[in-house]
Amino acid sequence: MEKLVIEGGHCLEGSVNISGAKNAAVAILPASIMASKGVCNLENIPDISDVNCILSIMRDLGATVKRDNDRVIIDNETINTTDACSEDVRQMRASYYLIGALLGRFKKARVEMPGGCSIGVRPIDQHIKGFEALGANVRIEHGAVVAEAERLIGTNIYFDVVSVGATINVMLAATLAEGRTILENAAKEPHVVDVANFLNSMGANIRGAGTDVIKIKGVEALSGCDYSVIPDQIEAGTYMIATAACGGRVTIENIIPKHLESITAKLEEMGVKVIEDGDSITVESDGNLKGVNVKTLPYPGFPTDLQQPMTVLLSIAEGISIVNESIWESRFKHVDELKKMGASIKVENTLAVIEGVKKLGGAKVIATDLRAGAAMIVAGLVADGVTEITHLYHIDRGYPNIELKFNSLGARIRREKN
Ligand code: EPZ
Repeated sequence: MEKLVIEGGHCLEGSVNISGAKNAAVAILPASIMASKGVCNLENIPDISDVNCILSIMRDLGATVKRDNDRVIIDNETINTTDACSEDVRQMRASYYLIGALLGRFKKARVEMPGGCSIGVRPIDQHIKGFEALGANVRIEHGAVVAEAERLIGTNIYFDVVSVGATINVMLAATLAEGRTILENAAKEPHVVDVANFLNSMGANIRGAGTDVIKIKGVEALSGCDYSVIPDQIEAGTYMIATAACGGRVTIENIIPKHLESITAKLEEMGVKVIEDGDSITVESDGNLKGVNVKTLPYPGFPTDLQQPMTVLLSIAEGISIVNESIWESRFKHVDELKKMGASIKVENTLAVIEGVKKLGGAKVIATDLRAGAAMIVAGLVADGVTEITHLYHIDRGYPNIELKFNSLGARIRREKN
């Protein structure tokens, strides 16, 4: 097992380049399966283990995949099975996109139930409701979701909850359904828009992505295209929060500032300077932070995926802050780790009441999930002394070259064998 050893207490200075968005890439790669002819030439694909995992699943399905740094070339004409039942499928959440993609193209799919971070109950009832509304028969058989249809026929679907996964998954299947589908109460996250843009580049007819009503006119077939994935809003937000915590001045490059407005607004409320300039943002902090309240919400609200790093920032901000996690019911597992470093936080169900402390102190902690791992890195960077973080496989699922990127800003992080 590996660990990160962080010598804390250094300001961050310089600039960092943000990679392609994990949660867009892990949807766009399976979505490419729907191209029955031609090759997909995808750029800005992040080098993370979740992407490697989905590529391995696609190879198992028969796809021809070539990878060259952040570019992936996929030929999905060669897919020869609609069964995706392997350890890789069970390991990751985004494997559920295989259901929508395979069902759309082949009208059948058998996909092992998805895994992912342990952050609360993660139902897929809204995905299933959408597939059934399109005319599929969906059942759970020996731990796999089996979906089959003679024909998929467009219809109106109103989601009971705003779900990123259900919106994208049902959009995939509806793209190759007959007639018009209208998705209401749809998620508006930037990666929903990115997947819709990618599908349109393959020949789909989707309008309204980014609003809560998405209109899809079914087409007969899709073909390969060239596409570049959007920058990762959550990776960018993590570097913004780390700079605010450590103090210093960092320019975060290759981003879409609009996607970061809820984070920018909170940092400014805390007394941090944030300057937007084209496709970059500069964060400047003297380390004097005011406590604020944060409620996680679907986009354009404050993203749940930055709640954990934000909790670290608030733990060293002056006064009392309250964090209300409204998306996932168990996303405070990092708090026990943070307490080992001297934070003063009381969690009650989905609320965390944080009393800011002057300093955190280095300790041995674990990454309890992906974003909790990023949070512990931020805590280690700001703490006095040395912090050791284990269970790095969580972090490697979603943050490309994280120690290299932080070290280029003046941090001192090394990866060692445990
Ligand atoms: C996506 O998960 C992201 N994962 C998550 O990021 C992110 O936290 C989440 O969206 C919210 O933004 C990927 O994109 C792979 P949801 P997803 O469906 O799609 C409830 C990370 O750290 N719900 O939007 O699975 C659900 O319980 C990961 O990168 C239903 O009730 O989330 C939750 O309360 C972690 N029924 C809410 O909706 C359903 O059928 C939002 O979930 C589906 C969801």
